[in-house]
Amino acid sequence: MAVAPVLGVVAGNREWAERLHSLRVRAEINPFEAGQFGRVGLAIDGENVMRPYSFVNAAGELPLEFYFSVVPGGPLSVRLAQLREGDEVLINAKANGFLVLSQVPPAKQLWMLATGTGLGPFLSILKGERVWRDYGTVVLAHAVRYAGDLAYRGDILAMVGEKNKGGCPPPTPPMQDGGGVNLSSIGGDGGEGNLSSVGGDGGGVDKKKSVRLIYAPFVSREKTDFALGGRIPQALAEGTLAEFAGLQPSPEESQFMLCGNPQMVKDATEVLKEAGFRRNRRREPGHITMENYW
Ligand SMILES: Cc1cc2nc3c(=O)[nH]c(=O)nc-3n(C[C@H](O)[C@H](O)[C@H](O)COP(=O)(O)OP(=O)(O)OC[C@H]3O[C@@H](n4cnc5c(N)ncnc54)[C@H](O)[C@@H]3O)c2cc1C
Ligand SMILES: NC(=O)c1ccc[n+]([C@@H]2O[C@H](COP(=O)([O-])OP(=O)(O)OC[C@H]3O[C@@H](n4cnc5c(N)ncnc54)[C@H](OP(=O)(O)O)[C@@H]3O)[C@@H](O)[C@H]2O)c1
Repeated sequence: MAVAPVLGVVAGNREWAERLHSLRVRAEINPFEAGQFGRVGLAIDGENVMRPYSFVNAAGELPLEFYFSVVPGGPLSVRLAQLREGDEVLINAKANGFLVLSQVPPAKQLWMLATGTGLGPFLSILKGERVWRDYGTVVLAHAVRYAGDLAYRGDILAMVGEKNKGGCPPPTPPMQDGGGVNLSSIGGDGGEGNLSSVGGDGGGVDKKKSVRLIYAPFVSREKTDFALGGRIPQALAEGTLAEFAGLQPSPEESQFMLCGNPQMVKDATEVLKEAGFRRNRRREPGHITMENYW
């Protein structure tokens, strides 16, 4: 039997770009693990229309926060985008989902790969303590179409500054057109989690200091002077993401978490499997943990 949702009150609705919103909600729900999703909804024509949305807030933090895109013609997302402070919203008290660190073995490197609003659960995880205890360096890759879709960029850059205090500067992107990039493909022999090459040419890098967080934005449909171009699976296959991060992933030392566009998840998983990485299964730990948004 379906459990009745609890009532939440909207504390804010931020529009980052056209059709990209963050909804903040005050509601009393059960504890959840960072990376999980809640079911959020509205009563529409006498029926509760509920959809899964990942928490962006840290576990235990209030208000709850959901980062969502408006799907044109979608029954719920279009209405959520119109909510204002003080409006009521429904949410299930119980959270769900397996894109959580309790499913991911500790590792030297944790690669978080997101498209669009798939960024949300990773932000929640990054706000917690476990990720900094169980993993050496975290690479957060966020792929969007246009630079204006890079929501939370300021917060992420602030976190990069905070986590890498006294360490290396954030890396600079290789050339945007992909042409002529020197490609070191993943899964090779260089799996030492060697941070010494972070920063591209190494200018000003203190090799003795460790880097905890690397932010790798991807912008696919316009040129920028700070983001990688193209798509995540290609960047994995061609080594441009590894080059950007200055880290060589290997099955011995790396874990991957993927979230967002199901085709990205599928394509990236195929590339990773080719390189010797395996899906994480409850009875058989591997290296890949994923969540599809549709
Ligand atoms: C586990 C899980 C977690 C999710 N977390 C989030 C989240 O944090 N943020 C978020 O924006 N969405 C998230 N979604 C998608 C979300 O639940 C809704 O499907 C989406 O907001 C659209 O709702 P809708 O009722 O307007 O349209 P729906 O009837 O649900 O969707 C209509 C169609 O739109 C497409 N679609 C659905 N979601 C998206 C999307 N995000 N981007 C592009 N196309 C989409 C699908 O083809 C779908 O069939 C999640 C989905 C799942 C399964
Ligand atoms: N950006 C916008 O204009 C915008 C803004 C808000 C909401 N929306 C709506 O929200 C929905 C989602 O849009 P979105 O831009 O957030 O998500 P998206 O279409 O999933 O695109 C996000 C990123 O994922 C990449 N991508 C798409 N398919 C991929 C694949 N098979 N493998 C690897 N990477 C892939 C895209 O690259 P490519 O560019 O190469 O496809 C883009 O860089 C759409 O329905 C849209 O209508 C769009």
